[in-house]
Amino acid sequence: MKARLAPLFGGWLLCLALAPPAGAQHAAADGRHAAPRSELPPWATRFEQEAVATDHPLASQAAAEVLAAGGSAADAAAAAMLALGVVNPASSGLGGGGFALYWDAEKKELAFLDFREQAPAAAAPDMFVRAPKPPGGGPLSTPSQLGGLSSGVPGEPAGIEALLQRFGRLDWKTVVAPALRYATEGFAVSEELSEASAPFAEQMKRDPVMRRWFAPGAARLQAGQRLRRPALARVLRVLARDGARGFYRGPLARRLAADVRRAGGILRAADLADYRVRWRRPIEQRAFGLRWVSAPPPSAGGFTLAMALQILQRTAPAWRQQGEAAFLHAFAEALKGPYLDRMRYAADPDARPVPLGRLLEPQRAALRAATFSPWFALPARDYDLPLEEDGAGAGDPVRDAGTSHLCVVDAAGNVAAVTTTVNLPFGARYTAAGVVMNDEMDDFATAPGQLNAFGLPGGEANLPAPGKRPVSSMSPTLVFDAQGRLLACAGASGGSRIPVATLQVLLRALVLGQPLSEALGAPRVHHQGIPPELRVEESVRLPEALQAALRALGHRIRPIGRVAVVQAVVLQRDPSGQVRTLWAGSDPRKGGRPAGR
Ligand code: DON
Repeated sequence: MKARLAPLFGGWLLCLALAPPAGAQHAAADGRHAAPRSELPPWATRFEQEAVATDHPLASQAAAEVLAAGGSAADAAAAAMLALGVVNPASSGLGGGGFALYWDAEKKELAFLDFREQAPAAAAPDMFVRAPKPPGGGPLSTPSQLGGLSSGVPGEPAGIEALLQRFGRLDWKTVVAPALRYATEGFAVSEELSEASAPFAEQMKRDPVMRRWFAPGAARLQAGQRLRRPALARVLRVLARDGARGFYRGPLARRLAADVRRAGGILRAADLADYRVRWRRPIEQRAFGLRWVSAPPPSAGGFTLAMALQILQRTAPAWRQQGEAAFLHAFAEALKGPYLDRMRYAADPDARPVPLGRLLEPQRAALRAATFSPWFALPARDYDLPLEEDGAGAGDPVRDAGTSHLCVVDAAGNVAAVTTTVNLPFGARYTAAGVVMNDEMDDFATAPGQLNAFGLPGGEANLPAPGKRPVSSMSPTLVFDAQGRLLACAGASGGSRIPVATLQVLLRALVLGQPLSEALGAPRVHHQGIPPELRVEESVRLPEALQAALRALGHRIRPIGRVAVVQAVVLQRDPSGQVRTLWAGSDPRKGGRPAGR
C-alpha cells in the first residue's frame, strides 16, 4: 500500500504545493470552487450532470451505465453494490449488509434504509464465550470472525430490492446486468484485492469456491489476473429473474443455510425467510450553518459524528483559522467523549433503546467544549459524561478491507449514500451457495468488555440475541445548506474509524473550504478515546512538523496503515442555487475512480 501510494501522492502533493491556497481556490459551501480540471488527480473528477464515486472503477462504471439507461440514483447505487460484490469480494457483497441514506429531490424527502445483517434465531448472548475456535486458525480467526458462526443473516439483497422498489425506475434484470457481465466474462484483480488477499490466502483456499480464484501455487490473488465468478453469476441470475425472493426463499436459501451450517454456523432457511429491512429516522445535527444527516442506530457512526460536530462548533474559535495542528488537535479532542458514549450506549434500537435525546443534549456538548483546552491533550476520562454507571476498556484497531462506501447523484438531484460491508476482509472467509459470507457477528460484544477487531469493547447492550443487529460504525452522510439544498454526500470504510474519516473530509471540504481532492488526499488522524493514542496514517504521512506540534500538545502518536477510505461528492451551485459542478472523489487509498458526465 505504502509503495503504491508514494509515487501517486508525491506527484500530486507537489501539484498541491504549487496551487494557490485552498481557501482562495475553492469553497463548496459558498460556490467558490474553481480548481482547473488539469490540476485534479485521476481519482477526483468534476461532472456537470451526474456523478458516481465508488472505491472500484468497475463499480463506478456499472452505476454510470445504469444512469445512462435512465436509472435513478437508487438504480445506479444498486448496480454499483452488485458490481462491488463481484469485483471486490474482500469488501462487500450479497452475503453482507449495510445502510443507505437517500435524498429524493422531487419530494424533498430523506430516507434511511437499514439492511444490516441480523443474528440468526438460534443466537445467544454467550454463544461466542463457549464456541470452539474455528479450525485452521490464521489471522482474525476467533469464532466471531472466521467461519459459519460469525455470519449474520445477509441483508444486501433485501436492501437492494427495497431501494429499487421505493426509489428505482428500472428492474432487477437491468441493474444486475453489469455485475453479471463482470462475473461471467471476468475482470482484472485490482491491487487492492490482491493485497487484501495476502494475509488470508490459506483461509480462503480452504473454501471450495475461493480456492479456484488462486493461480496454482499462488500465495495471493495476483493484481491483473483475470477472475471469473461463475458460482456468483448463478446467484445473480436468480436475482435478475426472481428478485430478492429468489435469495431468501426456495432452493437457493436452503442451499445457503446448509452451507453456513456446514461451515460451523447456526443459520437456518427460516432466518433468511424472516429477514426484513428497516426504514429508520436518520440522525440530524445543525452545525456551522449546515444540516448534517447521518446514520442512526444500530450505527453508532451518526451520533458519534453529530456529537463531535456539536463540540467542534463550540471550540471553532480555537481552531478555525489557527492552522492545521490546531484543527487536528481540536478534532481529536472532540472525538474522545463521543467514543466513550458509543462504547456504553450503542445498540440495536429494536432490542434496546439508545438514549439519543439525552446523548445529544446541547448541555453535554457545552460541558465537553468547556473542558477542551487548545494547549493540552486531555485524557478521555476528562470528557466522560456517563448517563448511568457503566464502563469498559478498549484496544487497538486492525487494518481493514471489508467495507465499501459509494455516493451517486443523478441528473434529477436524487442522491444515494450507501455503505455496505461483509465486516473483515473476505467476511468470514468462506462461501455459501457461491456467496462470500459476512462475519458481522464480530460487531456484537462477544462477551462484556471483550474487544472486537476494531478495538471496541462491547457493552451488555450489544450482546448477540436472536434477530438482533450488531452495532456498526457505518456513516453514510449527507450535508445540506441553510436553504435545504444538498451540498455533499460522503461516507467511509474502515471500521471504528468510519465516522472520524467521514467527518474529517467533510469538515475540510465544507468548513475549511478545501477542494474535495485536497480534503480526500490529506493525511488523516483518528482518536477513539481509549486507548489514549492519536492514530496517524502511514499511507499518507502527516508531515513531521505537524506530528511534533501534536506531540507537544501532549498527544501520544501511534502510526496506523490507513485510517479509512472515503468516497464523496460535493455539489457546487451558482448563486441561483442551480448545481454547476459535481466534484466526485474516490479515495486514492483504495484505487477507486469516479464516473459520471
Ligand atoms: O459495521 C461496521 O462498522 C463494520 N462491520 C465495518 C467494517 C469495516 O469498515 C471494515 N473495513 N473496511
